[in-house]
Amino acid sequence: MRRTYRGRDVEVSFDRDLCIHVGACLAGLPEVFELHRTPWIQPDAANAEIVAEVVRRCPSGALRYRRLDGGADEQPASPTTVTPLRNGPLLLSGALQVTLPDGTVDSAPRATLCRCGLSANKPFCDNSHLRSDFTAAGARLRIPSSPVRRSPDQPIAMRDDPRD
Ligand code: SF4
Ligand code: FES
Repeated sequence: MRRTYRGRDVEVSFDRDLCIHVGACLAGLPEVFELHRTPWIQPDAANAEIVAEVVRRCPSGALRYRRLDGGADEQPASPTTVTPLRNGPLLLSGALQVTLPDGTVDSAPRATLCRCGLSANKPFCDNSHLRSDFTAAGARLRIPSSPVRRSPDQPIAMRDDPRD
């Protein structure tokens, strides 16, 4: 479920079900994104332009933003690209229309879609590939060290994620 965190100049929303625990948010702007704080996102703790730039680094689209200060909202990349990630999901970027199992359509600028077949949240990746022997060629995703990913192969479990 997507939850919204409203600041003065920018609003950030987060859907934990889409997060693949890359940690680009926590590593990129720790004053705004803090795993064990409530609320875990404080949009006013940095300049709105920088908050927006870090949100756009979120590969899964779990994070999105809306500018409240007249600044430009995110423009989907064009052309749309699909990049297989090594031993992991498909990374999509563009003006996406993702049809969910209940038939609703989610418009998203970024998404990571399961290609191992094991996700419990299809069509999205939920990191189940890391607990399997799934191997496939693809690009390497840079994964910074962060509180949700102490090492590249070991994200925290969804049940241990305190964010909501
Ligand atoms: S996918 Fe990565 S950058 Fe996006 S919310 Fe999850 S931890 Fe943060
Ligand atoms: S590719 Fe990540 S769960 Fe299938």
